[in-house]
Amino acid sequence: MSTNASNFPGQLPIPVDHRGPARVGGARGKSGVARVARPIRGISSSVPKVGLVDVCLSYRTESGERLLALDRINLQVKAGEFLCIVGPSGCGKSTLLHLIAGLHQQTSGQILVDGQRIQGPGTDRILIFQELGLFPWLTVGQNVEFGMKMKGLGKAEREEKTRYYLRLVHLSQFKDSYTHQLSGGMRQRVALARALATEPDVLLMDEPFAALDAQTRDLLHDELERIWAETGRTIIFVTHNVREAIRLGDRVALLTFRPGRVKREFAVDLPRPRVLEDVHVAHAAREILDELREEINRSLEVEYNSGVKPHVEIGVGQ
Ligand SMILES: Nc1ncnc2c1ncn2[C@@H]1O[C@H](COP(=O)(O)OP(=O)(O)O)[C@@H](O)[C@H]1O
Ligand SMILES: [Mg+2]
Repeated sequence: MSTNASNFPGQLPIPVDHRGPARVGGARGKSGVARVARPIRGISSSVPKVGLVDVCLSYRTESGERLLALDRINLQVKAGEFLCIVGPSGCGKSTLLHLIAGLHQQTSGQILVDGQRIQGPGTDRILIFQELGLFPWLTVGQNVEFGMKMKGLGKAEREEKTRYYLRLVHLSQFKDSYTHQLSGGMRQRVALARALATEPDVLLMDEPFAALDAQTRDLLHDELERIWAETGRTIIFVTHNVREAIRLGDRVALLTFRPGRVKREFAVDLPRPRVLEDVHVAHAAREILDELREEINRSLEVEYNSGVKPHVEIGVGQ
């Protein structure tokens, strides 16, 4: 599925400013940014699905100091858009998703969904992370039903949606299996089905495929893209792997190392479906990688100087 008919394979991702993605195909250099209204699959609304306005978050450390984790984050995500967020380890990617999920409160700034300020967690947003949080004592079907139970859906509706969403992730035959009987990729699909079954508008995904082997991850990229296309959900997907971001995203936002700021946004207008190993994907990842490396170098400097053993996640050629 493509969100833009005028795609140019091999074209570099184009940096965008906070007013909107730069138009593809225009003669525009690195610094040339422009405001465009690029409707995403026919949805055109001036109100973004998710809007972050000057969002800051600081943590209080054990020594009582304040650590500024996120600094004036401004991001607008359109309904039906697939936004990927990349940045070095520790730059605040998970924190940002937690804020959007309403699990933490920002120190200042606003988080809006459909133009309304969020008031804590809501069934319109759901967070999926690497650890999945599936219940080993429940079957696959019961795991998928769980979120709907919490939402107060009746049994008949839960059963119908469980069937539908298990079919969507190609796990119908495993409804009565337990999660330990499944592979890592299948467990990820159960988590996806459970999240989708609650029918949130916004899926927040925190490095969901980072622990999977390359083949399984490729398959899940295909599945996620198909499901995204079929369900029209808005997805905010965090990864430290730039190629994965290019493989999946309509747009990639790059965060700086601490404090996390939006360094740059890139519109990705390669035709879909994309292949991770594709030369055009690699080419498109190049520019983002160069900027990401600067941030990783900064993180290494800070961590070496503070005597902390660095934890490096480069995710360049994965
Ligand atoms: N609960 C917390 N208390 C104090 N500092 C935290 C807490 N959670 C995260 N941090 C710090 O905030 C920064 C961003 O963390 P995180 O969002 O987990 O980064 P990322 O997901 O990009 O690796 C890091 O420096 C981390 O140490
Ligand atoms: Mg994280």
